[in-house]
Amino acid sequence: PSNSRHFLQSKSESRMAEESVKKWVLMVTAQTPTNIAVIKYWGKRDEKLILPINDSISVTLDPSHLCTTTSVAVSPDFTHDRMWLNGKEMSLSGGRYQNCLRELRARASEVEDEEKGIKITKKDWEKLHVHVASYNNFPTAAGLASSAAGFACLVFSLAKLMNVKEDQSKLSAIARQGSGSACRSLYGGFVKWIMGKEEDGSDSVAVQLADENHWDDLVIIIAVVSSRQKETSSTSGMLETVETSMLIQHRAKEVVPKRIIQMEEAIKNRDFPSFARLSCADSNQFHAVCLDTSPPIFYMNDTSHRIISCVEKWNRFEGTPQVAYTFDAGPNAVLISHNRKTAALLLQRLLFHFPPNSDTDLNSYVIGDKTILKDAG
Ligand code: ADP
Ligand code: DP6
Ligand code: CO
Repeated sequence: PSNSRHFLQSKSESRMAEESVKKWVLMVTAQTPTNIAVIKYWGKRDEKLILPINDSISVTLDPSHLCTTTSVAVSPDFTHDRMWLNGKEMSLSGGRYQNCLRELRARASEVEDEEKGIKITKKDWEKLHVHVASYNNFPTAAGLASSAAGFACLVFSLAKLMNVKEDQSKLSAIARQGSGSACRSLYGGFVKWIMGKEEDGSDSVAVQLADENHWDDLVIIIAVVSSRQKETSSTSGMLETVETSMLIQHRAKEVVPKRIIQMEEAIKNRDFPSFARLSCADSNQFHAVCLDTSPPIFYMNDTSHRIISCVEKWNRFEGTPQVAYTFDAGPNAVLISHNRKTAALLLQRLLFHFPPNSDTDLNSYVIGDKTILKDAG
């Protein structure tokens, strides 16, 4: 730790201090879970501010399963902002990272650690540089919302480091500028991203519909069909959809607003049949607008389709939905079962239809490794 109270001194002071002052690093580590949308966000009305064309609703997963861990550090020794993702250095020059950094720096406030003799003033933050190291404990860019957990964690940890005194809602609006789905990961439980009306995006924020203790008998199983990076990123995929699909307008204006109301009701009442019907229908319509894009985008593969058939047949046989499925922009299945009993039955069925080490696409399917069993909140 430095002996001086201020590390950003005038030139002469800092030169004098050079020999005697021990350099310091201030670091914050945070962990943020991913979230899976049950009413999907797909399409922007503003690319830069990341403003969506419809509201969306998601479930935040338990951080012990799918999450991002990010450490952010500041030191007078750092000469520029740098970031490592999963151990590999990546560029921070992209607009999204810059927008988040700028928004946070503008709100940074004084940090003082008397014990270490560190004092960073609001003005110091304009000149200081940060280093970021982030790890996802699940496949990156494979349709399991790594951008959601990633940007939520980046914003949350930097806000802590910089002593940003804003509420969760404002932080969600900043995370939104990193990746739209990230605004929902600032909250646990069931979360709605309100599209908002304002041009500056100030009212396009996430709100918690119910906390993680609500409806805690739901169990989510994720079947990792492929952990390969998708060919079309969510960002470019939805841009192409908005530019070329006619269905997307119908979806955003006519279908989603009604579904949002029904989904909020289903969540509030723990009405699993309605929750399941809406989730499956919305996932299927999202993939239909991807097909309606020119050129068409195929996020699901044959295995994904077989999982859908398996669940649909089972639900029809029982007469009432036992399991809901939803697929993000990738082939991996997110399966939400009503309770532990149906989750166990679902696993049994998955193992029967997609046995480990078989010739199916799920031949690398291993419980505990490729399957994540968790209590949803
Ligand atoms: P996904 O379906 O995984 O969200 P996207 O195409 O939406 O895929 O986003 C993937 C991009 O998100 C990555 O290429 C990277 O730029 C960003 N991203 C992923 N993980 C992190 C992270 N931990 N921290 C910061 N950015 C991340
Ligand atoms: C299918 O949030 O990844 O997962 O805002 O361009 O970063 P950008 O896209 P992103 O899109 C997520 C799309 C989705 C549905 C959802 O999470 O609502
Ligand atoms: Co994403």
